[in-house]
Amino acid sequence: MMISRSLIFISASFLLASAVNVSRESAWNGHTTPGSETAAPFLPWYVPPGAKSYDSASPLIHYTGKWMDSFSPAYVQRTLRWTDKPGASASFTFTGTGIEWFGGLDTTHGTAYVYIDGVKMPDVDTWNDYPLRQQRIFWKFDLTYGKHTIKVVKADKGSKSSSIVDVDAFVVTQIPPSYVQAAQQPDLLGPGSSGLQLESHALSNAPQWTLTQKGVTGVSAMQIAIISPTHALIIDKVEHNPLTLSGHPAWAALYNLRTHSVKPMRLQSNSFCAGGSFLSNGTLINVGGNPVVDGFTSAADFGDLDGLQAIRIFEPCEFDSVSGCEIYENHARIRMASARWYNTVVRISDGSAMILGGSKKGGWINNATVNNPTLEYWPPKSIHGSNGLPIHLPFLVDTLNSNLFPIAFALPDDRIFVAANQDAMIYDWKNNVEQRLPVIPNGVRVTYPMAGTGLLLPLSPENNYAPEILLCGGSTVDDTKAGYEISSQDPASAQCSRMVLTDDGIAAGWQVEQLPEARTMPDAVLLPTGEIVFINGARTGISGYGNVVNQVGQSNADNPTLTPVLYNPVAPAGQRFSSEGMKSSLIPRLYHSVATLTPNGDIMVAGSNPNLDRSEVKYGTEYRVEWVGPPYMSSDRPMVKSAPKKLDFGEGAKFAVTLPSSLKRNPDIKVALMDLGFVTHAVHANSRLVYLVASLSDDGETLEVTGPPNANIYPPGPGWIYVVVDGAPSVGVQIMIGDGQGPTVDDAALDNVLEKTSVDQYEASKKGDKQEDGSE
Ligand SMILES: *[C@@H]1O[C@H](CO)[C@@H](O)[C@H](O)[C@H]1NC(C)=O
Ligand SMILES: *[C@@H]1O[C@H](CO)[C@@H](O)[C@H](O)[C@H]1NC(C)=O
Ligand SMILES: *[C@@H]1O[C@H](CO)[C@@H](O)[C@H](O)[C@H]1NC(C)=O
Repeated sequence: MMISRSLIFISASFLLASAVNVSRESAWNGHTTPGSETAAPFLPWYVPPGAKSYDSASPLIHYTGKWMDSFSPAYVQRTLRWTDKPGASASFTFTGTGIEWFGGLDTTHGTAYVYIDGVKMPDVDTWNDYPLRQQRIFWKFDLTYGKHTIKVVKADKGSKSSSIVDVDAFVVTQIPPSYVQAAQQPDLLGPGSSGLQLESHALSNAPQWTLTQKGVTGVSAMQIAIISPTHALIIDKVEHNPLTLSGHPAWAALYNLRTHSVKPMRLQSNSFCAGGSFLSNGTLINVGGNPVVDGFTSAADFGDLDGLQAIRIFEPCEFDSVSGCEIYENHARIRMASARWYNTVVRISDGSAMILGGSKKGGWINNATVNNPTLEYWPPKSIHGSNGLPIHLPFLVDTLNSNLFPIAFALPDDRIFVAANQDAMIYDWKNNVEQRLPVIPNGVRVTYPMAGTGLLLPLSPENNYAPEILLCGGSTVDDTKAGYEISSQDPASAQCSRMVLTDDGIAAGWQVEQLPEARTMPDAVLLPTGEIVFINGARTGISGYGNVVNQVGQSNADNPTLTPVLYNPVAPAGQRFSSEGMKSSLIPRLYHSVATLTPNGDIMVAGSNPNLDRSEVKYGTEYRVEWVGPPYMSSDRPMVKSAPKKLDFGEGAKFAVTLPSSLKRNPDIKVALMDLGFVTHAVHANSRLVYLVASLSDDGETLEVTGPPNANIYPPGPGWIYVVVDGAPSVGVQIMIGDGQGPTVDDAALDNVLEKTSVDQYEASKKGDKQEDGSE
């Protein structure tokens, strides 16, 4: 399939290119409209709460040229207007931030020109080899809030002159004005532009950060991982996303970081709240998720399978075209032994994945009935007599209730740091021993739904890779309270707790400092400079939707934190936080939002969807992407001209570099090896920065770099190398650390898992015991 600069063109052309007779699609159960339990055939026309649909017969749509009316129950409001006259047009002026045009496709249909505010968009072809009705023919979601006009014109070109173009309905995406306030400023790039470059109001001598809005994700960005120099994999839950695949909404997509186009990805199971990790051979696994949601909480039934035990395989995607890059699922052969909703996945020193915790079914705050206080590995291991089956972790019992999506990092002594709720421990996986750590001070809870965020601070040979953990934000709300006793206005925590994980460090305990603003659901993004950007989240409330009192729309949180803050871990205490020169966003990023460092060195910010299904009500489903550029993006940056594809532990390798021309006499040169992590729910799993030993040749053109000392310092697997000169990083180059081989596959353990555990256990259990499934 073609990759084009335009998202709209992609979605339209994909619809055609992937033309599958919807009724022939095997994993297809039709959809259930909200509030109804009766399955009905799926039609893309969907009006999210807060959006508004205008039928083809609306007097607000202005037609020129000759248009005909057709009447059928197959059309929105039973009417459709069509034309076969080249030049005939339909114009519609609306107030909002987005527009969707719905109509029909078939062999009599042809090309249309589409204009937004007079600016021509890519041509749209409405030809299809069999009829489809109420299709989303064109959509644009990133307009500045205000008055806009869409004009659809029947083209004078196309396969046959008799070809027609129709209008069934327009749906306007309306973000309530109160919600966008400052966004009512004039569009700085002119009408119809999709990029909003915010002007700098900072003092001229302050560091210049940029904030740019560009691109839309097409599926809500609940989970994100950078998978190549050109693409990010975005994974969502099953819902009415505008991006479609085989005639139904997609719930995953590949986002092109260069062109901002998106390609829908096929998933079989519901990936709602899965975790993920790369393995040592570069394969990404996406783990766990949600059951098929039915009953009154149903978002939609798009034919998805139970995702609770799923392991979704995404092999390394080597081509910039992402051709052939697919997600593979086969629950009969590849799955976990137990069900896990809200688990965390950590790559460990042998290149395999440790899968931690979660709950056995969808829900909200964890409890003893649904808790899964175990870990298991992928691929499964014969370890501690488990023969591949889950291993009990007392820590995950003791940390109930708010212990989902534990914060976990592999440590340089080959043990695993785990924080959950108000507690932390170090797990020795080889000996199955927990070492409990001091309790997080002041009653602060750091994991779901009292979500804070955590990072392993940069590891450096200068202090012999002494590990230090930083936990920030979260909440002191009592996790034994019921939803009706918790409010979206309950304050979040501003506390950061930091501890060096050495004997002395642990004896000294947690060192406490305060974020400038309290934050629940913050994202913590490590920069190659070793600094951290805290972004996204809210000052009040907790994670989830539809549970607490004073919900805003369905959001359990309110008072979005719109200004990021930079943290410099090596500055003296009291001088570490600064928002100087940073731009405030206009886009709330609450539950189900993400932020990640990109290979380019800037930060991609996406998502926010504290809703059961796509909604335009405050706080709505957010598809717009923002890019936060640290000041170094506009500085004189070093360049890596050539680098090895693979770097083994302790191995030396040469990197050809071009250093900035304005180099100081004794430049500070660092080589940052980074894992950009798998990001979801404020958990940045596997996020890591290891400074490598490096020396510059006399001619200043070659860096002799030594790989990390061993697999404990950097678990084998993919990474990115940024050469940082006087605080300015190069563009990151992708590299494989270790030998690139997959983790050992223990066939006996795998066979035992497949034999002793059943596939999609939760779905099977529901058949005997039909009950409401409380997906949050
Ligand atoms: C699509 O499926 C329907 C129902 O099975 C069938 O009637 C129709 O002929 C199919 N169309 C094509 C183009 O195969
Ligand atoms: C435990 O959580 C599940 C899922 O949210 C819920 O259905 C159940 O009622 C809870 N049980 C108790 C005892 O709170
Ligand atoms: C990597 O290893 C995993 C686990 O054995 C396997 O499923 C996957 O296919 C491997 N990927 C490649 C590219 O070999």
